[in-house]
Amino acid sequence: MLRHRQIPRMSKLPGSLDVQFMRRAIALAMRGRGAVEPNPMVGCVIVGSDGQVIGQGFHQVFGGPHAEPQAIASCTQSPRGATAYVTLEPCCHTDKKTPPCVPAVIAAGLARVVVGCNDPNPPVAGRGVRLLREAGIRVDEGVLGPQCRQLIAPFTARIVHRRPYVTLKWARSADGKVAGAAGRRVQISNEASRRLVHELRARCDAILVGVNTVLADDPLLTARGVARMRPLLRVVLDSRLRMPLTARVLEGGGVLVFCTSAASPDRAEALRQRGAEVIGLSAGDGARVPLDAVLAELHRRNVMHLLVEPGPTLAAAFVAANLADRAWVFRSPRVLGEAGAPSAIALDWPAVAAVDVAGDTLVEYLNPASAVYCCAEASADIAKVLGCAAGG
Ligand SMILES: NC(=O)c1ccc[n+]([C@@H]2O[C@H](COP(=O)([O-])OP(=O)(O)OC[C@H]3O[C@@H](n4cnc5c(N)ncnc54)[C@H](OP(=O)(O)O)[C@@H]3O)[C@@H](O)[C@H]2O)c1
Repeated sequence: MLRHRQIPRMSKLPGSLDVQFMRRAIALAMRGRGAVEPNPMVGCVIVGSDGQVIGQGFHQVFGGPHAEPQAIASCTQSPRGATAYVTLEPCCHTDKKTPPCVPAVIAAGLARVVVGCNDPNPPVAGRGVRLLREAGIRVDEGVLGPQCRQLIAPFTARIVHRRPYVTLKWARSADGKVAGAAGRRVQISNEASRRLVHELRARCDAILVGVNTVLADDPLLTARGVARMRPLLRVVLDSRLRMPLTARVLEGGGVLVFCTSAASPDRAEALRQRGAEVIGLSAGDGARVPLDAVLAELHRRNVMHLLVEPGPTLAAAFVAANLADRAWVFRSPRVLGEAGAPSAIALDWPAVAAVDVAGDTLVEYLNPASAVYCCAEASADIAKVLGCAAGG
């Protein structure tokens, strides 16, 4: 059973109608999570002069129509003179799969457009707004701006920072452990949580682990029993290529292994023979695989959402390097009570959501020091988990 325990900023805010309609547009946008990437999620609500919603839409699938034309097409009466609430500035560039939205908005005769945030893409930022104004449409910007920017944080990470949006995920027991004594694999989260993990994995482009997790848990790193919209790359960080050639993650091929020059070329060749792609990176001072170079390579391979399933060592490394944006921690009520068991790292990031998962609690944390952090707002993934992204 999934129950919404506490999502401080997702409840309807009191305040102006503009805020309420933009909140609805954000909820609509969130429905696109998992299908629109590498595009941003966008939602649009059209409100007639009597204050009633007459149309709404969201960007549903990559390559499909954008939110604004969908909302216009769905109108139950003429949109002439109406107001559109759109989470992201309407687009005006033509070098993409779908026609630009600005001409459609102008042709529909809308009188006012309320924009949540500008397009973060420097060559187009602000141009859509300018063109609308030049056409005589009143444009108001920045309504729920931080929330709208947070909604597109993964898109901003890709377009502006040229790296994936990084989520760390682990399960911990009530006494703070992530494994049994000496790292022995134990089941910490319950079955409902494990099912949820497969859903969350399915919405990501890649899953990454450190080699100690391969050695201790021998995971497959696949998304099982769930629908998947795009390929899921599996990635292992293994500076000296200690992973066994029999590791289950190698099954089926398509695994990327990052190592350093400390790894033996023979070992790299043996892994290649097992179907892995092995990439050597210069280690720098730390003598371990450099995380920034890994992220750059994954960006080059169009990874927009990276899910890292770290042990404490890799989790601490991502946090220390300020290269993680978000964490999902499954907290189990179970006490392991095993001496010598590894402990979860302590996170001092704000928790933005907590969801009851049949007794476990999934807590979402956002890194306030992330370059794409805008506000403590629960993500579209949490909205999907709760099934509450239907808007209104
Ligand atoms: N409860 C959970 O959700 C969960 C999830 C995952 C793992 N675990 C448990 O955690 C334990 C393993 O955790 P761990 O902390 O020992 O290891 P880990 O985080 O799984 O892997 C760490 C290893 O990755 C390699 N690595 C390569 N580049 C790195 C970098 N830049 N920064 C950090 N590490 C890098 C290092 O080995 P080299 O120097 O050899 O490259 C390092 O020792 C196991 O017991 C596993 O069962 C639990």
